[in-house]
Amino acid sequence: MHKKIQFVLAKKLHKKNKVASIQFEAAEESSLVRLPSGKKMLSVGIGKEQVSRRHYLNLLRKIVTIAKAHRIAIFRFRFDDLLLPHLELSRTDAAELIATNFEMANFEFVSYKTPPPDGWRFVKTVIVTGNVDRAVRNAFIRGQRIGEEVNACRALANTPAGMMTPTILADEAKKAARGTKVKVKILGVRDIKKLKMGAILGVSQGSSEEPRFIILEYRGVPGKPIVLVGKGVTFDTGGLNLKSTEGMSDMHLDMSGGAAVIHTAVLAAKLGLKKHVIGLIPAVENMPSGSSYRPGDVLRSMSGKTIEVLNTDAEGRIILADALTYAERYKPRLVVDVATLTGAAVVALGERASAIFTKDEKLEHLVRKLGEESGDYVWPMPLWDEYKEDIKGTFGDIANDHIRRSRYGGAVLGAVFLYAFAKKYPWVHIDIAPRMTAIEGEFLSKGAAGAPMRLLIKLLEKI
Ligand code: BES
Ligand code: MN
Ligand code: ZN
Repeated sequence: MHKKIQFVLAKKLHKKNKVASIQFEAAEESSLVRLPSGKKMLSVGIGKEQVSRRHYLNLLRKIVTIAKAHRIAIFRFRFDDLLLPHLELSRTDAAELIATNFEMANFEFVSYKTPPPDGWRFVKTVIVTGNVDRAVRNAFIRGQRIGEEVNACRALANTPAGMMTPTILADEAKKAARGTKVKVKILGVRDIKKLKMGAILGVSQGSSEEPRFIILEYRGVPGKPIVLVGKGVTFDTGGLNLKSTEGMSDMHLDMSGGAAVIHTAVLAAKLGLKKHVIGLIPAVENMPSGSSYRPGDVLRSMSGKTIEVLNTDAEGRIILADALTYAERYKPRLVVDVATLTGAAVVALGERASAIFTKDEKLEHLVRKLGEESGDYVWPMPLWDEYKEDIKGTFGDIANDHIRRSRYGGAVLGAVFLYAFAKKYPWVHIDIAPRMTAIEGEFLSKGAAGAPMRLLIKLLEKI
């Protein structure tokens, strides 16, 4: 199993110590040399050009990736050797980034794999020497907590859908919150019916798995909360508008938004943030069957607004509509929803940034800035009123797809649909479909990338 790294912060190291050491080198290639003393020295090539902040985060993960490849389970570095002065990072910011990115690079989802005879290649211990004062020490601890919780989110998302149904997702939320100040409440079918959440019920009716509505609350302070809403589709077949073979692969990750919300609420508690945080996750499985909702069906959402289902594969926005309505009862300061909502967002941005949508320009800039700082990159897209025309219902109030069946502007239409249910509070929508899985060259293992947890935790702190 994957365990957290043991960080040892020491002023000095004994001369006799044979631990491998790591440093950056202004070269293209990385190299591993054995010094006359018998010690190994790993030089990680950072290239000859000035390293940007983005490149820096990647290099931190590269260190751990190379160490793993060489079976170096324990290594040391001088703290000051990993600080690149031109980046103008404070020592504590750097320490936090090092710890978070080391943890993230060390993670692999091996829960269902037999260990190789010589064991997994995880890094076990990292010794940090040099000028490490109390503040830096705390920043390491903090950074590691963030990395660990992001990894827990990735593990949850990666779990195959047969073992991660709405019911199990709800149980996992409880487990994650155990021992923290997060309270978890689970609504079952009867509560969901009582609340008249016809949107959630409609999407889930084709599956033999019951829906759940997961509510997390962390009350770090009294007062109006920030509500995080996460899409919790535990498997998205597309429903009767069935996806293609390629389209369906990775759709066990369609609860990544929900996983991020669960673990962000828990992380807020673990970090002791002085914030009031609510997490809402509508959890369903989108299945085709004799009891499925159909194209043409009209669902009455909790808001009273009716949803005309033009495509059963645009299910995320439907279940989120009820969650966004439910959020009203908290009179929130801010609502952020996180969803693997549209393939169109991936077409628009590629796999390197999530799409953000908001009417609040200040918030847009803040989220962009925090995305840049955290490594959860985002890019804004429009939420203009004109687009409403394209999803005006014929037999219901609002349609869940383009009424002329065009594929143009798919990410925007998803956002505009959600906005119709998010009128009562400041709101940001984050379409994380582009960042659902890690890509080649970012030194993260295959599978869930853990977006946008690092951004969300910063946003909770800053707001
Ligand atoms: N979960 C998918 C979106 C998705 C696709 C996420 C690929 C990550 C990777 C979502 O439920 C979906 O199917 N969206 C449709 C919407 C369309 C039918 C309007 C899409 O993107 O094709
Ligand atoms: Mn879908
Ligand atoms: Zn989906």
